[in-house]
Amino acid sequence: MFVCVCNALTEQDVEDAIIKGGVRTPGGIYHHFGTEPQCGLCEATLRTMINAATRQAAEERAPRHDGGERKSTRAAASPRPATARCEA
Ligand code: FES
Repeated sequence: MFVCVCNALTEQDVEDAIIKGGVRTPGGIYHHFGTEPQCGLCEATLRTMINAATRQAAEERAPRHDGGERKSTRAAASPRPATARCEA
């Protein structure tokens, strides 16, 4: 599904840019794909996806205090929010 309709960026594109590419701003997402914001309606969604992925990565890096082994919850807690709709 498209997150940014104007630039044809899918959820998978954006997740890859965040997780594999280390992009941490909506502007960085556009830059990563050689695009620019058009209508801007996707910016809040991009920010939400970045925040969710950043929070998830921090939780996975944080030491546990119960001595147990941390298991990834990335698949269970996808940072995929509702997508923006472009009316332009
Ligand atoms: S700039 Fe992303 S949906 Fe329009």
